[in-house]
Amino acid sequence: MGVVALVPAAGRGERLGYGMPKALVPVDGVPLLVRAVRGLFQAGCVRHVVIAAPPSDVDIVNTVTAPSAPAGGAVHVLAGGAERSDSVRLALEYALRELPGTTIVLVHDAARPFTPPSVVNAVVDAVAAGHPAVIPVLPVADTIKEVDAAGTVVATPDRATLRVVQTPQGFDARVLLRAHEAGLHATDDAGLVERLGVRVATVPGHQNAMKITTPFDLAVAEALLAGGKA
Ligand code: C5P
Repeated sequence: MGVVALVPAAGRGERLGYGMPKALVPVDGVPLLVRAVRGLFQAGCVRHVVIAAPPSDVDIVNTVTAPSAPAGGAVHVLAGGAERSDSVRLALEYALRELPGTTIVLVHDAARPFTPPSVVNAVVDAVAAGHPAVIPVLPVADTIKEVDAAGTVVATPDRATLRVVQTPQGFDARVLLRAHEAGLHATDDAGLVERLGVRVATVPGHQNAMKITTPFDLAVAEALLAGGKA
C-alpha cells in the first residue's frame, strides 16, 4: 500500500496577518507546516510527503521539513500554484510521476498542525478498505443559515445532517487525478470528487484538527500546547 501525503502550503496567510506565509508561522517555536508533517509521519502509514510551498520559499521549506522524514521516507518540496487546487494538482502529478506505487493519497492542509495520527490512520484505513474518497468530519455545534446576496435568510438546513469537514482527506490516487483533470471547482478536494459522482465516505474527525486561519485560531493553538492538550 503506497500512501503519499500531499500538503498544500503555498498560501500567503494574509488573514493571519503575520507577514510571512502561514505554513512558516511558528507555534511555540515550531512552524505550523513542520508540525503538520510530523503528525503525518507519526501515523506510521505515510513514508512520503509532497509539499507545495510558496514559490519563493521552496528552499527554506525543504530545510525545515526534511529532518522530519523517517528512515526510508522523504519530504519532497515543489513550488505551489495560484490557487489551493493548483497546488494540490501539482503535488499529485509529482507523486504519480516520481513516486511509483502511489495508490492512496492524502491531502492535508499545512494549516492543521495538531491533527492526531489516529485521524490520519482512520482515513487511510477507510480508503484501503475500498472507499475511493474519505473525509474526517465533526458534528456542527451552531445552527447554520443559508442567506441570499442581501444577507436575508433563505433556508435553515437541519443541523443534524450537517458536518464540519477537516483534513487529511483520503483518495484513490487515480480518482483524485480524474477529479482535478475534469476542470471542476470546489472548496475542497472531496468536493471535486463528489462532482464526478463518486461517493465520499466520512470518518470521525477531531477537535485538534482545527484549521488555523486567524490570529484567534493561533492563540487557541498556543493555549492547547501550553495546556498539554495538543
Ligand atoms: O487559505 P486557506 O487557509 O483555505 O488555505 C488552505 C491551505 O491551502 C493552506 O495550507 C494554504 O497554504 C494552502 N494553499 C496552497 N496554495 C495556494 C493557496 C493556499 O497550497 N495557492
